[in-house]
Amino acid sequence: MKSAIYPGSFDPMTLGHLDVIKRASKMFDQLTVSVLDNKAKNALFSVEERVSILKEATKDLPNVSVDSFSGLLVDYARQKDIHVSVRGLRAVTDFEYELQIAQTNRKLSNGALDTVFLTTSLEYAYLSSSSVKEIAAFHGDISQLVPDFVAKLVYKKYNSGSMED
Ligand code: PNS
Repeated sequence: MKSAIYPGSFDPMTLGHLDVIKRASKMFDQLTVSVLDNKAKNALFSVEERVSILKEATKDLPNVSVDSFSGLLVDYARQKDIHVSVRGLRAVTDFEYELQIAQTNRKLSNGALDTVFLTTSLEYAYLSSSSVKEIAAFHGDISQLVPDFVAKLVYKKYNSGSMED
């Protein structure tokens, strides 16, 4: 069985992430989308909230499961016996950072964890969770950037005065 992990912060999941998830789910028998539990980062959504958003968004994709992890991706992948990590590449500006993570993970895992890059669909090439949060913080329109139910949750955070990432 071909399995892969799609790791990320997903704070919050965007339509760009969902596009990568849908496409990767067709390439692998099992795809685990996993939220990094990074205590050092001041996130808008808790890990539990991010997992719940991803579960709702992927409920119609039977071979996609959602999980969270802390620590090194290579350790998590080894525990799950998964050897492929999926990452989206938006523009050339992503490349250096992504290459560094991919090479580091391959080295750290002694070649056991490889990375597969999917180029994001052009309509999402300049979309990021950070821009979604910034636009929402200034009451801008994020309806083209995240699913409707996520937009509602993001606006709710800012209306209730939560911290911005
Ligand atoms: O959505 P993001 O924030 O770009 O995702 C980055 C992520 C979670 C894939 C990356 O930071 C990661 O895997 N972190 C876990 C720690 C780790 O394994 N670091 C070694 C690779 S540099």
